[in-house]
Amino acid sequence: MQIQEALDLQESSWPQVLIMEDEASVAKGLGMVLSEEGYNVDLAMTGRSALDSFNQKMFDLLVADLRLPDIDGMEVIRQVKRRRPDTEVLVITGYSTVTTAVEAMKLGASDYLPKPFTEDEFLSAVKGALVTKEFFATDSESALPERLPEDSLRLKEVMQQIRQRFEGRQYEVISILQKVQNGLGYIPTEALLQVADFTGMPEAAVYGVATFYERFRLSPVGRHVVKVCRGTACHVKGADKILHEIAHRYKLAPGQTSKDRLFTLETVACFGSCAIGPVVVVDGKVSADMDTDKVGKVLQELVKGDAHHDPH
Ligand code: FES
Repeated sequence: MQIQEALDLQESSWPQVLIMEDEASVAKGLGMVLSEEGYNVDLAMTGRSALDSFNQKMFDLLVADLRLPDIDGMEVIRQVKRRRPDTEVLVITGYSTVTTAVEAMKLGASDYLPKPFTEDEFLSAVKGALVTKEFFATDSESALPERLPEDSLRLKEVMQQIRQRFEGRQYEVISILQKVQNGLGYIPTEALLQVADFTGMPEAAVYGVATFYERFRLSPVGRHVVKVCRGTACHVKGADKILHEIAHRYKLAPGQTSKDRLFTLETVACFGSCAIGPVVVVDGKVSADMDTDKVGKVLQELVKGDAHHDPH
């Protein structure tokens, strides 16, 4: 292979990013930050030109400002997700509200970065969005834990108790969701629908409450919770490789639980132990200076330990 061909091939495999931002200086600045890291970057100053770019080219990531001179940024995200559902979206805006954040996430945005943000925060959000994309590309279906028949039975019982104990008022929704989570360990979609029905709240509003509070989980928790730090200090020492290893080995994306419900994978912005990174915390136990081999061994030990205690 000719050197130029090899370079072209390498370049074309780097992530393609479209920055949709109407302030030229901001767009160029962000573009420069990403180009220096090796990303292929295009800029769009309007919603219309962003959609035109998507007609002509595939992008791995759309960095989307929401306030644009022509089309609402949220509408652009909606259209991009409809035409190219596997495009990751990172929302950046100076006008952040919980409602817009929830709406953007519901449309499929990976992350939401309120302005002003630092270069590091921006880079880490971009990397995070693209890591998620790669993870999902591994085998997303196998990562989705099946809802067990026991969950449906348990939900029935829990909802019965809720109907006896609560009046079905909207102000009770947080306590009701907490009760569901206490009973099942997470809040399945079916429960959100039943809670909406019981309280008379719109389904989207109940979903909004459940996703707004960090304490609520919408998927089951595995027997072991593995938290990988994705802060800058750990990132530069190879935290992403560790995430890839776990994702690849157990077919998991961050926030997911393995089909056998053995592992739940989570990421954390920083554990505050940056000097001993990369840091991985498994079931509350901190492991410092981790690499792919070490994390593989730690998880294998857990699997062996479980098999020893529970041969079935
Ligand atoms: S960046 Fe990982 S512990 Fe701080």
